[in-house]
Amino acid sequence: MRPPALSDVHRRHIARLRAQPATVDAEGLRIGAQYVMFFAEADLMREHALLLTRGCSRPRVLEVGLGLGVFATQLGRVDSYTAIEPHPGVALLAHDRVLDHFAAPVRVHAEPWQLVSLPAGAFDAIMYDTWPPDGHADADFAQFVAQVAIPCLRPGGRLSFFHSGTSISPARRQVLDRHFAEWTTHPYTMPAEQTPPHWTKPTRDFLIPIATKGGNA
Ligand SMILES: C[S@@+](CC[C@H](N)C(=O)[O-])C[C@H]1O[C@@H](n2cnc3c(N)ncnc32)[C@H](O)[C@@H]1O
Repeated sequence: MRPPALSDVHRRHIARLRAQPATVDAEGLRIGAQYVMFFAEADLMREHALLLTRGCSRPRVLEVGLGLGVFATQLGRVDSYTAIEPHPGVALLAHDRVLDHFAAPVRVHAEPWQLVSLPAGAFDAIMYDTWPPDGHADADFAQFVAQVAIPCLRPGGRLSFFHSGTSISPARRQVLDRHFAEWTTHPYTMPAEQTPPHWTKPTRDFLIPIATKGGNA
């Protein structure tokens, strides 16, 4: 797969991200002052992992946005795990905490997904959980699906993505309807007592979307 280019907005965004330190504490991962992922999201990520890999005994998994490695820790047996994470400090922390203990082969690409070249049809499951520039989330998602997810999933492979709130926007529905044979959503609410003190996300309600690529598995 030939990688698309990185726009000026995205280049500046990634440069700003990389210029800030990554730190992990008892609550989760901060890039600069902002928490981007919490350990309290482990149950949510477990549901993503279970639904994405259901029925596939040794999936080849791609995660876009490695972060704290919470999703990675929720995976069962995998054939291989590939992550894309442009922040070197984040990748280092996840290696030490999680990836160095994986039984299966692990590969981490240290560039933004827009610059990574991946083999066609090589993944059974893709988890998309990045931090796009403000105002670019839906456009990035559409580009990712068309240029990465669809080419890189095998026929019958699945995509999931992080989604706050209780409904999928019309823009995302359109992308999912256009590119996937079918898609569903599964609700998840983080219990109030699990909410960390510095919770930064807009709600404790989430959807777990699972989109399946057409074609014979
Ligand atoms: C919310 S965190 C991911 C959390 C992760 N799924 C977990 O389970 O811990 C988002 C991550 O996306 C990364 N990111 C930002 N822009 C990216 C891009 N263009 N490509 C890949 N990753 C990106 C950030 O550095 C950050 O580590």
